[in-house]
Amino acid sequence: MALTPDFDTYPIDFTISSATAERGAVHVTWSDGRVSRFHNIWLRDNCPCVECVHQVTKEQTFELVVVSPEIHPAAVSVTSEGSLSVAWSEGEHASEFHAGWLRANCYSAEARAERTVQRITWDSSTMSAPPTFDGPAVLSDDGALYEWLIALRTYGATRLRNVPCTDEAIGHVIGRIGIARDTNFGLFWDVRSEPNPVTNANTALPLPPHVDLPTREYQPGLQFLQCIENEAIGGDSILVDGFRVAELMREQYPSEYRTLTTVPFDWANSAKVTDYRWRSPIIVTNTSGEVTEVRVGNWLRAPLDLPFEQVEEAYAAYRCLFEMTYREDLQLRSRFEPGDVVAFDNRRTLHARSEFTDVGGPRHLRGGYTERDDLHSRIRMLERGMRERRVALGNSTLG
Ligand code: OGA
Ligand code: ZN
Ligand code: ZN
Repeated sequence: MALTPDFDTYPIDFTISSATAERGAVHVTWSDGRVSRFHNIWLRDNCPCVECVHQVTKEQTFELVVVSPEIHPAAVSVTSEGSLSVAWSEGEHASEFHAGWLRANCYSAEARAERTVQRITWDSSTMSAPPTFDGPAVLSDDGALYEWLIALRTYGATRLRNVPCTDEAIGHVIGRIGIARDTNFGLFWDVRSEPNPVTNANTALPLPPHVDLPTREYQPGLQFLQCIENEAIGGDSILVDGFRVAELMREQYPSEYRTLTTVPFDWANSAKVTDYRWRSPIIVTNTSGEVTEVRVGNWLRAPLDLPFEQVEEAYAAYRCLFEMTYREDLQLRSRFEPGDVVAFDNRRTLHARSEFTDVGGPRHLRGGYTERDDLHSRIRMLERGMRERRVALGNSTLG
């Protein structure tokens, strides 16, 4: 069977019916009728052979510049095993592409659309509580873990229940996904009202909707808040989908939206022994104009540092967004029960709490972070395992 250039398993759900070389690309027709077009240079660059990919590291050793831009197939065929075989016009080189790998990497518009990861925005009319999962199941069972992680990726906010109320549990939960992200607040940190707080979070004050550490160039991707004890009066937990807020602003306040996506704001963490600052628009978009992150944290703003004529516009746009984060129809509100872990995308979902008093009993949360990257890697690894099992069980007849 043809080699593949990585450690993944590729079930063959569709076979190659025919392959032809045409004007700079190889056209592959599949058993379901779909046609994929692969540029000559793309195929040559992705040759998985022992000369082009180190077979132990599965990293490329082939360097693009050793072939000419005009390289093209001298011959194209489908092997008896169903792989695509290409003999090249130069270098006396031949490549064999595994049908499952080739299909998985097809870059037709249709295939690329199928690979788009679903993201669903929410507000209190579409969601009454974050998707909720059983903590012990998630900690011990990969199927339950997978369901939780897909919800976390899709909605950017989830809740676990019945997680053991120990100091270590937060590390175990994060460890199911990846590596905990350390910060100047510690690998894991306690949230409770303290006599000498290092942050407003460690008072009994209300906290307006915010993301943690907008002050950092690389703002943590995922946040986990575990309730260990809660006998306080007040201290409700509030979640707001920052991407929903951005969506509504784009529709209803386009000029403020434009300001927030283009004008940089300054963020600072006023600490005695560290001085983290970052400068970024509040709503960050990618080259396609999609919102990729929001940075909101009222008490973490540094003085605006903008040309004189932009200051009023920046304040007006910030006020517009800040007011929206307080809209009841955009807030999910709940009370933390011991054993709850709220897990959310810290570059998307804003969190807040109402004021509390702990004279009658303590309120103790424990928090930690990891990264979106770790979430995506874990999801891919769980899916890889599913594909491996599928192929081992022979559900993929040709794999
Ligand atoms: C925090 C925080 C929320 C809460 O510590 O950053 O937002 O409910 N805490 O106390
Ligand atoms: Zn090769
Ligand atoms: Zn916070």
